[in-house]
Amino acid sequence: MSVTVKSAAELARMREAGRLNAEVRALLRAAIAPGVTGRDLDAFAKREIAQRGGVATFVGYAPGGKPPYPGAICYSVNEELVHGIPSGRALRDGDIVSIDLGVTYAGFVSDAAFTAAVGAVPEAVAELLRRTEQALWAGIAQARNGRYLGDVSHAIGAVGEQAGYGIVEGYGGHGVGREMHEPPHIPNFGRPGVGYRLKTGMVLALEPMFALGAPDTEELDDQWTVRMSDLGLCAHFEETVAITDGEPDVLTRIVA
Ligand code: MF3
Ligand code: CO
Repeated sequence: MSVTVKSAAELARMREAGRLNAEVRALLRAAIAPGVTGRDLDAFAKREIAQRGGVATFVGYAPGGKPPYPGAICYSVNEELVHGIPSGRALRDGDIVSIDLGVTYAGFVSDAAFTAAVGAVPEAVAELLRRTEQALWAGIAQARNGRYLGDVSHAIGAVGEQAGYGIVEGYGGHGVGREMHEPPHIPNFGRPGVGYRLKTGMVLALEPMFALGAPDTEELDDQWTVRMSDLGLCAHFEETVAITDGEPDVLTRIVA
């Protein structure tokens, strides 16, 4: 499969999928508190998606012989980076948690994530969250007609590098459309001016992942959860972005 370019009609449907994603993510963000479990948040997300006429994209996702993913969200706590399966693990004051949400609407997928602090965290941890989100927006700023994929990757990676974070290499962003994972793969590091040429109508999910320690990761026996090998803290943010003739259109942006 090659990179798909969406028509105006398809983009309108993706915009709707993105809006639902933003609404449900805002509710999830507000629900994060000590004592809340991944299962609570997952059940809540499933209800809120269904109520809006959407479909939970992640449920049943089973690429490459993996066991079908059971959740509507990914729930990754502390040393867990991405793809954590919603569990009975209750959030505690001082934790950080990445919530990733996929919503399909009218046949099109939106994919977005944030990492939030539960109660008070040390300043270095708050800084990790701020910088990782900043890297996402630096990448988004490069998602323009005529730029290169390397411009996006470089902009993201430069923020992490400057902060001295471990930049995860095994995972990254991706194209998104009728399928959650479409080409191209988008590394969170790279050289400007190289790689795929971006064009109006392409839709990308950008997702920086940075670690306080070493960037090495391992997959748990559940075949989904990815955690840092050194068990250090890590952060992950994601938005679905359409490339237009003008400003990048952040389809999953939460409007306050
Ligand atoms: N944003 C994540 C990704 O692109 C979503 C994964 S959903 C899962 O990898 F079902 F695969 F976990
Ligand atoms: Co994604």
